[in-house]
Amino acid sequence: MIKAIKGTKDILPDSIGKWKHVENLISLIFKNYNYKEIRTPVFEETSLFARGIGEATDIVGKEMYTFEDRSKTSITLKPEMTASVVRAFIEHSLGKKQSLNKLYYISPMFRQERPQAGRLREFHQFGAEALGSSSPLLDVEMISMAYGILSGLGLKDLTIKINSLGTPESRKKYTQELRKYLNDKEHLLSGESKERISKNILRIFDSKIENDIEVMKGAPLLLDYLDNESKDDFEKVKSSLTSSKISFEIDTSLVRGLDYYTKTTFEIISGKVGAQSALCGGGRYDLLVEQLGGEPTPGTGFAAGIERILIACENENSFEVTEPSINLYIVCLEKTLMAKTYELAQSIRRNNISVEMDYIGRSIKAQMREANKFNAKFALFFGGEEYQSHKSQLKNMETGEQEIISLENIINKINV
Ligand code: HAM
Repeated sequence: MIKAIKGTKDILPDSIGKWKHVENLISLIFKNYNYKEIRTPVFEETSLFARGIGEATDIVGKEMYTFEDRSKTSITLKPEMTASVVRAFIEHSLGKKQSLNKLYYISPMFRQERPQAGRLREFHQFGAEALGSSSPLLDVEMISMAYGILSGLGLKDLTIKINSLGTPESRKKYTQELRKYLNDKEHLLSGESKERISKNILRIFDSKIENDIEVMKGAPLLLDYLDNESKDDFEKVKSSLTSSKISFEIDTSLVRGLDYYTKTTFEIISGKVGAQSALCGGGRYDLLVEQLGGEPTPGTGFAAGIERILIACENENSFEVTEPSINLYIVCLEKTLMAKTYELAQSIRRNNISVEMDYIGRSIKAQMREANKFNAKFALFFGGEEYQSHKSQLKNMETGEQEIISLENIINKINV
């Protein structure tokens, strides 16, 4: 039997209600902040992600779904959206049409990671990118929107972590210090962290290995090496979050796994989803547009994983959706009337009334079971004695009341 690829998941009809609930809230919150939706292709030229996310990152180094198409172009299924949004922003000169572009998306992403709870190979992100302003207020806006969506879903066990990665210059100064600090401690580090010293030294902070964590506890802090502008902006982010009554923690080890970040970064962590606890992450990327060939344009954004959020919602029992109901189930009393039943169903559906009927010749009892299963508000018994006079029995499934109605009248009766 052919099964779904490891790390991918079918979203079956019985969980669509939850997805829709999340998606509706996402669209509502982004609309309140005046973000416009953008959709980009599922695949892009590989070099976009290699240049945008960074060659030395785990995503580019080991997780991308990359293949050559028939014309020998290297193609990659998008592992994240920021690079794609920036590519579209440059390609369509969006910065010339609008000085600040506020964009949002909901889209599948692909990363060949080791699947586990909350970690998939195809997953869905929603997120936002604001291109064209270096105001720290937009960083706060990102955190507020992300937090607004998560708390709007009823999640309570949330921690907002923030940090600043400064400018590349201040980071360079800092990484020199970090290198010096690790000089005589390299032997204490895990193999992976040793490798990261030359490749991507900041990511050593991400290690979950006990010895690495111990070593990094004594490391110099990037926050102490920030340039004045980054420091100022970080202060503004903190004070604006405080006045918005959004609690946060400063996490000096929050380095993020993508290379494009500058200045403020953040993550929102759930205490209810196990190891893969980051529900969302983001930050400022003031140099990315330029790096990808556009006019220098500051940017900031975030993305959140819907599957992870749904696990957190499930574990916190944070919201419930009611199964959608149908307006009418037509119980066909005689098999010979099936085509007529269909005609009637069609004529009612044209009035935007949801109607179901039996297509497989079920017994009357089985049809009533179906009507209950679909939460039908009314059942119409089509056929029998009343059929000759163009009438039918209509049952209100909530009250149990039953009356004989003329079929011309059915729309009015159901619409009450
Ligand atoms: P990211 O931290 O790589 O950031 O991903 C954001 C979120 O996507 C994570 O917090 C997580 O909830 C979800 N996620 C990531 N990988 C997986 C996976 N394998 N399975 C399930 N969920 C996953 C970015 O993608 C940046 N583009 C965010 C950003 C936007 N920064 C600025 N603008």
